[in-house]
Amino acid sequence: MRVLVIGSGAREHAIVWKLAQSPRNPELYAAPGNAGTAQIATSLDVRADDVEGMLAAVREHAIDLTVVGPEAPLVAGLVDRFRSERLRVFGPTRAAARIESSKSFAKQTMAAAGVPTAAFAVFDDREAAAAHVRKLGMLRPGTPIVVKADGLAAGKGVVVAADAEEALGALKRMMEDRAFGEAGARVLIEECLRGPEVSVFCFTDGVRVTPLVAACDYKRIHDGDRGPNTGGMGGYSPPPWWDAAIERRIRETCVEPVVRALAASGSPYTGVLYCGLMLTDDGPQVIEFNARFGDPEAQLVLPRLENDLLDVIDAVLDGRLDALDLRWSDEATVAVVLASGGYPGSYETGVPITGLDRMPSEALVFHAATALRGETLVTSGGRVLTAVGRGATIADARRTAYEAADRIDFAGEYHRGDIASFAT
Ligand code: AMP
Ligand code: GLY
Repeated sequence: MRVLVIGSGAREHAIVWKLAQSPRNPELYAAPGNAGTAQIATSLDVRADDVEGMLAAVREHAIDLTVVGPEAPLVAGLVDRFRSERLRVFGPTRAAARIESSKSFAKQTMAAAGVPTAAFAVFDDREAAAAHVRKLGMLRPGTPIVVKADGLAAGKGVVVAADAEEALGALKRMMEDRAFGEAGARVLIEECLRGPEVSVFCFTDGVRVTPLVAACDYKRIHDGDRGPNTGGMGGYSPPPWWDAAIERRIRETCVEPVVRALAASGSPYTGVLYCGLMLTDDGPQVIEFNARFGDPEAQLVLPRLENDLLDVIDAVLDGRLDALDLRWSDEATVAVVLASGGYPGSYETGVPITGLDRMPSEALVFHAATALRGETLVTSGGRVLTAVGRGATIADARRTAYEAADRIDFAGEYHRGDIASFAT
């Protein structure tokens, strides 16, 4: 059986790594992949969002199953196109992926399904949006206001403004200056929630939902959550407070109603569903849904999946999730992302990487921006590698993750020192 994973990050390396453990011994491919996936999968030189190029590659290599990692191919309609060609593909359709690609669609779906989420208003007109912000500023002076671009903005389309004045500036950048292009033609203005954040994941066949798994990630570049946002600098799973009661509450009040609503709307969602939540004083409230695994969350939760990932994918695609006993292990995982110095600003690439041959036995290393220059492994982007520690407790997993991170070296290497530091 030949399986192709689309994407090139550490998330996709983790998916390829998990598939490589299947007793069915699939022949693995990655497009475009990286130097890490290349150790266990054949790299295909196709851009992730090049739908026709991917289709041609799948035919050329007689791929039996395609697994989509990032959101761009979903939004480009890859799943729809593959399905119309009767190809087996794991991921939601473009219509179902609107739960991520349109924040207004997501909020309206949540509101209609009774899912707890921040109060919001949607605007296509800058003057109307500005009037709303001024009104909020007068009603509740000094209260933060959240301004969001409706469309995809590479994780940068959300501004948590300290007050109305700052929110008006964000509106101008999004709606007038078009800092995020067309993604900012429509904006959402939301009430600001407070509390710890958590990402939860499940598999769904459009009807049934598997047990949820939870992870927390660190988005800011520096220790103490300071500095600019990044794609993610590390994380841990499960959170210490996670238990069966909160799993059930979030599944029943936040996840299942949205899966049911999408099915009822004629666009059933199949694949991995990612729900980002905030645990407020009033209980869990949904911040957003994503149509894929998170990064670094995939690196944290896939090592905890006890099932063969191919069995899970088959159950999802064949609508047989009821017959699958999906289990997440009790093991803890901690991820530390190794980045190029200067990221998320400018940084050097092509820098040789050493130390990967000296990893502790309980560590996993997933590649993101790596390439081979001759025999030498070099950096090729901002987030270079994810070091993951596994252990009986978060403290054990953390020790291993940092031992691995500290042994890896490249000029300018940077990682946060405070990932899961509550467990020291
Ligand atoms: P998103 O792009 O939707 O993931 O939002 C990025 C980040 O903005 C989230 O991870 C939250 O930390 C923050 N955020 C989004 N919406 C809200 C909200 N309503 N209240 C407080 N923080 C928010
Ligand atoms: N870790 C956040 C994301 O993948 O969107």
